[in-house]
Amino acid sequence: MSQKKIDKDNLPKHVAVIMDGNGRWAKKKGLRREFGHKAGRKAVKKIIESCVELNIKHLTLYAFSVENWNRPKIEIDLLMQLLLLSLKDELNNLNKNNIKFNTIGDIGKMPKKIFDYLIKVKKETKNNTKLTLTLALSYGGRNEIIDAVRNISMKVKNNIISLKKIDESVINDHLYTRHYPDVDLLIRTSGEKRISNFLLWQIAYAELYFTAKLWPDFNKKDLFKAIISYQNRERRFGKTSEQIK
Ligand code: FPP
Repeated sequence: MSQKKIDKDNLPKHVAVIMDGNGRWAKKKGLRREFGHKAGRKAVKKIIESCVELNIKHLTLYAFSVENWNRPKIEIDLLMQLLLLSLKDELNNLNKNNIKFNTIGDIGKMPKKIFDYLIKVKKETKNNTKLTLTLALSYGGRNEIIDAVRNISMKVKNNIISLKKIDESVINDHLYTRHYPDVDLLIRTSGEKRISNFLLWQIAYAELYFTAKLWPDFNKKDLFKAIISYQNRERRFGKTSEQIK
Protein backbone atom coordinates (compact mmCIF):
# COMPACT_ATOMS: atom_id res chain seq x y z
CA MET A 1 0.00 0.00 0.00
CA SER A 2 1.28 3.46 -0.76
CA GLN A 3 2.06 5.77 2.16
CA LYS A 4 0.12 9.02 2.56
CA LYS A 5 2.25 10.80 5.16
CA ILE A 6 5.84 11.92 5.08
CA ASP A 7 8.28 9.41 6.52
CA LYS A 8 10.81 11.53 8.40
CA ASP A 9 13.36 8.72 8.17
CA ASN A 10 13.35 8.61 4.39
CA LEU A 11 13.71 12.23 3.36
CA PRO A 12 15.52 13.23 0.18
CA LYS A 13 18.86 14.73 1.18
CA HIS A 14 18.95 16.99 -1.83
CA VAL A 15 15.89 18.53 -3.45
CA ALA A 16 16.32 20.57 -6.65
CA VAL A 17 13.59 22.68 -8.22
CA ILE A 18 13.03 24.09 -11.71
CA MET A 19 10.71 26.95 -10.80
CA ASP A 20 8.68 27.43 -13.96
CA GLY A 21 5.47 29.24 -14.87
CA ASN A 22 5.77 32.74 -13.39
CA GLY A 23 4.93 34.36 -16.72
CA ARG A 24 1.93 32.11 -17.39
CA TRP A 25 0.66 32.67 -13.85
CA ALA A 26 0.64 36.42 -14.46
CA LYS A 27 -0.90 36.08 -17.93
CA LYS A 28 -3.73 33.95 -16.59
CA LYS A 29 -4.56 36.75 -14.19
CA GLY A 30 -4.29 39.43 -16.87
CA LEU A 31 -1.16 40.85 -15.21
CA ARG A 32 2.28 41.77 -16.54
CA ARG A 33 5.04 39.14 -16.24
CA GLU A 34 6.75 41.08 -13.46
CA PHE A 35 3.86 40.24 -11.13
CA GLY A 36 4.48 36.56 -11.80
CA HIS A 37 8.11 36.92 -10.75
CA LYS A 38 7.12 38.88 -7.65
CA ALA A 39 4.67 36.15 -6.68
CA GLY A 40 7.37 33.59 -7.50
CA ARG A 41 9.62 35.24 -4.97
CA LYS A 42 7.03 34.67 -2.25
CA ALA A 43 6.78 31.00 -3.24
CA VAL A 44 10.58 30.71 -2.90
CA LYS A 45 10.38 31.96 0.67
CA LYS A 46 7.66 29.46 1.58
CA ILE A 47 9.53 26.51 0.10
CA ILE A 48 12.71 27.40 1.97
CA GLU A 49 10.73 27.56 5.23
CA SER A 50 9.14 24.19 4.50
CA CYS A 51 12.53 22.59 3.82
CA VAL A 52 13.81 23.90 7.14
CA GLU A 53 10.72 22.52 8.89
CA LEU A 54 11.19 19.12 7.27
CA ASN A 55 14.92 19.02 7.97
CA ILE A 56 15.97 18.71 4.34
CA LYS A 57 19.68 19.38 4.08
CA HIS A 58 20.09 20.68 0.50
CA LEU A 59 17.72 22.77 -1.58
CA THR A 60 18.93 23.94 -5.01
CA LEU A 61 16.75 26.36 -6.96
CA TYR A 62 17.09 27.18 -10.66
CA ALA A 63 16.71 30.94 -10.46
CA PHE A 64 18.42 32.13 -13.65
CA SER A 65 19.85 30.00 -16.44
CA VAL A 66 22.59 30.97 -18.89
CA GLU A 67 19.84 30.93 -21.51
CA ASN A 68 17.81 33.46 -19.49
CA TRP A 69 20.33 36.16 -20.50
CA ASN A 70 18.49 36.08 -23.85
CA ARG A 71 15.28 37.46 -22.31
CA PRO A 72 14.30 41.10 -22.91
CA LYS A 73 16.54 43.47 -20.95
CA ILE A 74 13.62 44.86 -18.98
CA GLU A 75 12.78 41.39 -17.62
CA ILE A 76 16.42 40.61 -16.82
CA ASP A 77 16.70 43.90 -14.94
CA LEU A 78 13.56 43.10 -12.96
CA LEU A 79 14.81 39.62 -12.04
CA MET A 80 18.13 41.12 -10.90
CA GLN A 81 16.29 43.73 -8.84
CA LEU A 82 14.16 41.06 -7.19
CA LEU A 83 17.23 39.01 -6.44
CA LEU A 84 19.00 41.93 -4.81
CA LEU A 85 15.91 42.80 -2.79
CA SER A 86 15.58 39.20 -1.62
CA LEU A 87 19.23 38.98 -0.60
CA LYS A 88 18.95 42.20 1.39
CA ASP A 89 15.63 41.26 2.98
CA GLU A 90 16.57 37.69 3.80
CA LEU A 91 20.12 37.87 5.12
CA ASN A 92 18.96 38.09 8.74
CA ASN A 93 16.41 35.33 8.27
CA LEU A 94 19.03 33.06 6.74
CA ASN A 95 21.16 33.44 9.83
CA LYS A 96 18.21 33.17 12.21
CA ASN A 97 17.21 29.88 10.57
CA ASN A 98 20.76 28.56 10.36
CA ILE A 99 20.70 28.45 6.54
CA LYS A 100 23.92 28.47 4.53
CA PHE A 101 23.61 30.34 1.25
CA ASN A 102 25.50 29.34 -1.86
CA THR A 103 25.35 29.84 -5.61
CA ILE A 104 26.30 27.76 -8.62
CA GLY A 105 26.87 29.26 -12.06
CA ASP A 106 28.84 32.08 -13.56
CA ILE A 107 27.96 34.87 -11.11
CA GLY A 108 30.81 36.94 -12.56
CA LYS A 109 28.31 37.82 -15.29
CA MET A 110 25.87 39.33 -12.79
CA PRO A 111 25.79 43.11 -12.24
CA LYS A 112 28.61 44.15 -9.87
CA LYS A 113 26.25 45.25 -7.09
CA ILE A 114 24.56 41.86 -7.06
CA PHE A 115 27.81 39.95 -7.38
CA ASP A 116 29.15 41.79 -4.31
CA TYR A 117 25.99 41.09 -2.34
CA LEU A 118 26.04 37.40 -3.27
CA ILE A 119 29.59 37.15 -1.94
CA LYS A 120 28.57 38.99 1.24
CA VAL A 121 25.60 36.69 1.91
CA LYS A 122 27.72 33.59 1.24
CA LYS A 123 30.40 34.83 3.61
CA GLU A 124 28.01 35.79 6.38
CA THR A 125 26.12 32.49 6.29
CA LYS A 126 29.01 30.13 5.67
CA ASN A 127 29.01 28.56 9.14
CA ASN A 128 25.29 27.73 9.14
CA THR A 129 24.40 24.05 9.16
CA LYS A 130 20.64 23.39 9.08
CA LEU A 131 20.06 23.73 5.33
CA THR A 132 22.27 24.59 2.38
CA LEU A 133 20.26 26.81 0.04
CA THR A 134 21.84 27.07 -3.39
CA LEU A 135 20.66 29.41 -6.11
CA ALA A 136 21.63 28.45 -9.64
CA LEU A 137 22.40 31.82 -11.23
CA SER A 138 23.70 32.28 -14.73
CA TYR A 139 23.87 28.51 -14.55
CA GLY A 140 24.10 25.92 -17.31
CA GLY A 141 24.70 22.22 -16.74
CA ARG A 142 26.77 21.87 -19.90
CA ASN A 143 28.93 24.85 -18.93
CA GLU A 144 29.48 23.24 -15.54
CA ILE A 145 30.71 20.05 -17.22
CA ILE A 146 32.93 22.04 -19.63
CA ASP A 147 34.50 23.85 -16.67
CA ALA A 148 35.10 20.55 -14.90
CA VAL A 149 36.73 19.04 -18.03
CA ARG A 150 38.98 22.11 -18.39
CA ASN A 151 40.08 22.00 -14.75
CA ILE A 152 40.72 18.28 -14.77
CA SER A 153 42.62 18.50 -18.09
CA MET A 154 44.82 21.20 -16.65
CA LYS A 155 45.60 19.01 -13.64
CA VAL A 156 46.39 16.06 -15.90
CA LYS A 157 48.70 18.27 -17.97
CA ASN A 158 50.48 19.41 -14.81
CA ASN A 159 50.75 15.85 -13.46
CA ILE A 160 48.46 16.58 -10.51
CA ILE A 161 45.97 13.89 -11.57
CA SER A 162 46.86 10.83 -13.65
CA LEU A 163 44.56 9.97 -16.55
CA LYS A 164 43.92 6.51 -15.06
CA LYS A 165 42.67 8.01 -11.79
CA ILE A 166 39.78 9.91 -13.41
CA ASP A 167 36.57 8.41 -12.09
CA GLU A 168 33.14 9.61 -10.89
CA SER A 169 34.51 11.03 -7.68
CA VAL A 170 37.11 13.11 -9.57
CA ILE A 171 34.35 14.51 -11.80
CA ASN A 172 32.16 15.19 -8.74
CA ASP A 173 35.00 17.06 -7.07
CA HIS A 174 35.28 19.42 -10.06
CA LEU A 175 31.61 20.34 -10.38
CA TYR A 176 30.15 23.52 -8.89
CA THR A 177 28.28 21.26 -6.47
CA ARG A 178 31.37 19.52 -5.07
CA HIS A 179 30.70 18.32 -1.49
CA TYR A 180 26.94 18.11 -2.18
CA PRO A 181 25.14 14.79 -2.27
CA ASP A 182 23.56 13.85 -5.62
CA VAL A 183 20.07 15.19 -6.24
CA ASP A 184 17.46 12.74 -4.88
CA LEU A 185 14.34 14.57 -6.00
CA LEU A 186 14.00 16.99 -8.91
CA ILE A 187 10.76 18.97 -9.08
CA ARG A 188 9.60 20.97 -12.10
CA THR A 189 6.45 23.08 -12.00
CA SER A 190 4.17 24.36 -14.76
CA GLY A 191 3.56 21.09 -16.61
CA GLU A 192 6.74 21.19 -18.72
CA LYS A 193 8.63 17.91 -18.71
CA ARG A 194 12.16 18.98 -19.52
CA ILE A 195 15.47 19.21 -17.68
CA SER A 196 16.54 22.47 -19.39
CA ASN A 197 20.26 22.09 -18.80
CA PHE A 198 19.90 21.83 -14.99
CA LEU A 199 22.33 19.71 -12.90
CA LEU A 200 22.86 17.23 -15.75
CA TRP A 201 25.43 15.09 -13.95
CA GLN A 202 23.89 15.33 -10.48
CA ILE A 203 20.42 14.05 -11.49
CA ALA A 204 21.67 10.73 -12.87
CA TYR A 205 19.61 8.79 -10.29
CA ALA A 206 17.18 11.49 -9.17
CA GLU A 207 13.47 10.82 -8.99
CA LEU A 208 11.68 13.27 -11.27
CA TYR A 209 8.46 14.95 -10.16
CA PHE A 210 6.47 17.08 -12.58
CA THR A 211 3.44 19.07 -11.54
CA ALA A 212 1.05 21.26 -13.52
CA LYS A 213 1.03 23.85 -10.73
CA LEU A 214 2.59 27.15 -11.80
CA TRP A 215 5.52 28.17 -9.61
CA PRO A 216 3.79 31.07 -7.75
CA ASP A 217 1.04 28.62 -6.68
CA PHE A 218 3.46 25.93 -5.50
CA ASN A 219 3.19 25.71 -1.72
CA LYS A 220 4.13 23.61 1.29
CA LYS A 221 1.34 21.10 0.55
CA ASP A 222 2.69 20.61 -2.98
CA LEU A 223 6.21 20.07 -1.65
CA PHE A 224 4.87 17.47 0.80
CA LYS A 225 3.05 15.76 -2.09
CA ALA A 226 6.26 15.63 -4.11
CA ILE A 227 8.15 14.14 -1.17
CA ILE A 228 5.46 11.52 -0.54
CA SER A 229 5.58 10.60 -4.23
CA TYR A 230 9.38 10.27 -3.92
CA GLN A 231 9.00 8.05 -0.86
CA ASN A 232 6.55 5.78 -2.65
CA ARG A 233 9.05 4.97 -5.38
CA GLU A 234 11.53 2.16 -5.34
CA ARG A 235 15.01 3.49 -6.01
CA ARG A 236 16.88 0.58 -7.51
CA PHE A 237 20.07 2.25 -8.81
CA GLY A 238 20.24 -0.41 -11.53
CA LYS A 239 19.65 -3.36 -9.16
CA THR A 240 16.62 -5.64 -9.08
CA SER A 241 13.65 -5.19 -6.75
CA GLU A 242 14.68 -8.34 -4.83
CA GLN A 243 18.20 -7.03 -4.24
CA ILE A 244 16.79 -3.82 -2.76
CA LYS A 245 14.55 -5.71 -0.32
C1 FPP B 1 10.33 30.83 -14.63
O1 FPP B 1 9.16 31.45 -14.99
C2 FPP B 1 11.10 31.50 -13.60
C3 FPP B 1 12.27 32.20 -13.76
C4 FPP B 1 12.89 32.47 -15.05
C5 FPP B 1 13.05 32.73 -12.69
C6 FPP B 1 12.71 32.32 -11.29
C7 FPP B 1 12.50 33.55 -10.54
C8 FPP B 1 11.73 33.65 -9.44
C9 FPP B 1 11.08 32.49 -8.82
C10 FPP B 1 11.48 34.99 -8.85
C11 FPP B 1 12.46 35.51 -7.88
C12 FPP B 1 13.42 34.53 -7.35
C13 FPP B 1 14.42 34.83 -6.50
C14 FPP B 1 15.37 33.76 -6.09
C15 FPP B 1 14.60 36.16 -5.95
P1 FPP B 1 8.99 31.89 -16.50
O2 FPP B 1 9.22 33.36 -16.56
O3 FPP B 1 9.86 31.08 -17.38
O4 FPP B 1 7.48 31.54 -16.73
P2 FPP B 1 6.77 31.18 -18.10
O5 FPP B 1 7.42 29.95 -18.64
O6 FPP B 1 5.35 30.93 -17.69
O7 FPP B 1 6.92 32.37 -18.98
